[in-house]
Amino acid sequence: MQQRLQKIIAAAGYCSRRRAEELIAAGKVRVDGQIVKLGDQADAESSTILIDGKPLKAAETLVYVLLNKPLGTVTTLNDPEGRPVVTDLVRDLTVRLFPVGRLDINTSGLLLMTNDGALANRLAHPSHQVDKRYLAKVRGQLTEQSKQALEEGVKLEDGLTAPAKITNLRFRGGHSWFELTIHEGRNRQVRRMCEALGHQVSRLVRIGYAFLTLDDLAPGQKRLLTDQEVARLKRLGGKP
Ligand code: URA
Repeated sequence: MQQRLQKIIAAAGYCSRRRAEELIAAGKVRVDGQIVKLGDQADAESSTILIDGKPLKAAETLVYVLLNKPLGTVTTLNDPEGRPVVTDLVRDLTVRLFPVGRLDINTSGLLLMTNDGALANRLAHPSHQVDKRYLAKVRGQLTEQSKQALEEGVKLEDGLTAPAKITNLRFRGGHSWFELTIHEGRNRQVRRMCEALGHQVSRLVRIGYAFLTLDDLAPGQKRLLTDQEVARLKRLGGKP
């Protein structure tokens, strides 16, 4: 497939499209031995592209990981306070992965990590309404009224939440346990929804993301997604 050279160079992660245009304009890019000019096209698969005499590397292999994020880890690439970050747990995979969405430091469970920025952005976009399922343990007994409030939407300072689905509600030892499914991804959303109804969350685990589940992965463990799972996620994220 013929594509503009600046697009090919940027997609390979070499530099931005703008910088690629500058390199082309400066006569530093050759395709199959010929210096190219701005506006020229090439086939990324079949052409030999050199920048400053060095071959343009193929785009990085895309990697998709399901991690069971342990408690106490931060969902950022690095933390100025020096706390453990989720990227430490995937460092052995040698590619630079970043999290799809966030889980707060006191929440454990299913976190997707990938270097496929396009898919990560599409999945995190509110328009795709990906279901996220949590196991919550809250202080006190969740009344029928509070359950209904969660199911209808809770008024938070950033607006009314979309209805949550509540299942498997039980009460034991002064705490209520239940599963809650939401598709929004606001900051600390589950905690804030429960707190607004007078229930402090004492444990929160994400047990599902779309069709994916934690299964028997222990905290800190991870697995690669299968090709079928990646294809399903791409369909969910509305492949461009
Ligand atoms: N809701 C929360 O309160 N915290 C999370 O990490 C995710 C959802």
